[in-house]
Amino acid sequence: MSLSQPANTPAKRQDFTSFDRPRLLAIVNQKGGVGKTTTAINLATALAAVGKKVLIVDLDPQGNASTGLGVRRSLIKASAYDVLFGDAHIADVAMPTKVPRLHVVPSSIHLSGAEIELVTAHNREYRLKEALSTNLPYDYVLLDCPPSLNLLTLNALVAVDSLVVPLQCEFYALEGLSHLTKTIQRVKKQFNPRLTIHGVVLTMYDQRNKLTSMVEKDVRGYFGDKVYKTVIPRNVRLSEAPSYGLPAIVYDMKCAGARAYIQLASEVIKRERKLKKQLLAA
Ligand SMILES: Nc1ncnc2c1ncn2[C@@H]1O[C@H](COP(=O)(O)OP(=O)(O)OP(=O)(O)O)[C@@H](O)[C@H]1O
Ligand SMILES: [Mg+2]
Repeated sequence: MSLSQPANTPAKRQDFTSFDRPRLLAIVNQKGGVGKTTTAINLATALAAVGKKVLIVDLDPQGNASTGLGVRRSLIKASAYDVLFGDAHIADVAMPTKVPRLHVVPSSIHLSGAEIELVTAHNREYRLKEALSTNLPYDYVLLDCPPSLNLLTLNALVAVDSLVVPLQCEFYALEGLSHLTKTIQRVKKQFNPRLTIHGVVLTMYDQRNKLTSMVEKDVRGYFGDKVYKTVIPRNVRLSEAPSYGLPAIVYDMKCAGARAYIQLASEVIKRERKLKKQLLAA
């Protein structure tokens, strides 16, 4: 199958200013159940564990990132919905989690109606960008996106610097990626020229499965070094942890899944350093 070109823009000097504020990454794939939320929670935790200040914005009405981080619904006073509609400042909505240096802007059920409400709203694609453009005391802001390319996801694509795309190695994975790549191209052209793919992360990786290695070969062949070297294995501890309201890295730091996310975080940081060097040299 053919894919349109991935969103790799050359670094430009004017982008350097983006390192003076938090790096904004959206965890995105319109396909459901591929590991977006698991990646958001555990990548964020691993970044926080090495001293970074991290904020997760839960943009999914399902609220899995919020519950997976142990946020109790009864304690939520305001949510990503209020941020989107300008009723609350993001810094006032962010809640601490059990992980030091990791905060979350929780989701709310109101987000499921936001899609319709946004259609007629002024500046509807830029709501999140505006909310995130104030001085925020974080090194990284990770946006956990819903499984669709709706206006909520579009707001994320317009607001961020870069995308982390979790990909499950299965038969239709590449088709989904092709659709996403086309959307990224459109968003770059129309709304956010600086948007890049930070990396594609292979999730629920099963090295004994022949299809896994076939899909991996295709994805690496097309996206090259945009695909992180780290792969996230299928690991039952990763799926158990959210029911305890804990990131897997806290629930069982030694499990294979937690170790993989720690490794992924160091790869993300390395890429960031390299990008910063490129920008300074440009
Ligand atoms: N590496 C893994 N090994 C085992 N189970 C996993 C792994 N990654 C995710 N899961 C489990 O798979 C399910 C889907 O994962 P997750 O919720 O992270 O995906 P998602 O892309 O955010 O889903 P949605 O599109 O519904 O938001 C969850 O039950 C999760 O616990
Ligand atoms: Mg999710």
